[in-house]
Amino acid sequence: MKILGIETSCDETAAAVVEDGWKVLSNVIASQIDLHAKTGGVVPEVAAREHVLKMIPVLEECLSDAGCEWSDIDALAVTKGPGLISSLIIGTETASVISYVKNIPLIPVQHILGHIYSNWLDREEEVDFPIIILTVSGGHNELILMRAHYNFEVLGDTRDDAAGEAFDKVARILGLGYPGGPAISKIAEKGDSDAVDFPRIWLDKGSLDFSFSGLKTAVLTKVKSLENFELSEKLKADLAASFQEAVVEVLAGKLLIAFERYPEVKELHLAGGVSANNRLREAITEKIPEHIKFKYPRSLRYCTDNAAMIASAGFFFYKIHPDLVKPQRNIIPQSSFEIY
Ligand code: KG4
Ligand code: ZN
Repeated sequence: MKILGIETSCDETAAAVVEDGWKVLSNVIASQIDLHAKTGGVVPEVAAREHVLKMIPVLEECLSDAGCEWSDIDALAVTKGPGLISSLIIGTETASVISYVKNIPLIPVQHILGHIYSNWLDREEEVDFPIIILTVSGGHNELILMRAHYNFEVLGDTRDDAAGEAFDKVARILGLGYPGGPAISKIAEKGDSDAVDFPRIWLDKGSLDFSFSGLKTAVLTKVKSLENFELSEKLKADLAASFQEAVVEVLAGKLLIAFERYPEVKELHLAGGVSANNRLREAITEKIPEHIKFKYPRSLRYCTDNAAMIASAGFFFYKIHPDLVKPQRNIIPQSSFEIY
């Protein structure tokens, strides 16, 4: 079954065709990074205008790369939220019009579920349930127990800034540009992660929730205290490495606590933009027992926002609830973080 996915929740206009939930036939992403680098972050109206310009060319390229006509597509899947409403609406309206005009079933997909399904892409084998997923992006941070397809329990959630947002804000404080995650992880390779002892925010004992806003403020306070010093490359590298280590220790530590609470779990998955971070992957690998399978997306293009993951999530929804899938005229974007 071939599903065409559409994703426009933030600053990437993306479309992809995925067969049977795992085989990626095309995966087109028009990134707006250069546009938003000028302002140091995403300006919603600018992002929405760019989606309008890119949506149709991206769809055409996506079909052509997959060697498909519209008549080959069994269903559409589109991100319904959470995200920037003005960006989401370009994707949901486009998908609704195609669904209505061409009479193709349409599946609205929650963005975070999309990230979860990024670990099915390019992997033909089914996962060994139950699994625990740590999903870490710019807008969200969750620990999720997944017992079967579309059977999710949220174990921990974001209380304030998500880890990716903290990476972006700290990069801005250090003058490293946008997006912050890749810039920090690159410069951190040359830094000493013990240089500054930034706080590890664990919250209440046993809590699996996350909070990174205090850490971001700690970096700002430290930089302000160094006002009379030149922020040399070496100092920036040390601050970046120390900050990254404080984030990674908490993320990997809470993942391990969750795993110890559910010993029946067979696989640990890492997903979302921050799953591209090598130090995080390394720290998790170091901590987990050898018999546990640890997976992260097979390609960097599946870590950050993409439409292949939305198509995959749509496929498994179709498999579980075929009776609920039909052509639709209106999908209303949602800003809620509810997992369904
Ligand atoms: O999943 P994503 O593309 O968008 C959201 O759903 O939010 O994640 C984007 C986030 C950004 O905050 C970016 O800085 C972060 O992922 N990111 C990274 C890395 N690559 C991207 N964070 C840490 N290390 C990286 N290598
Ligand atoms: Zn995302």
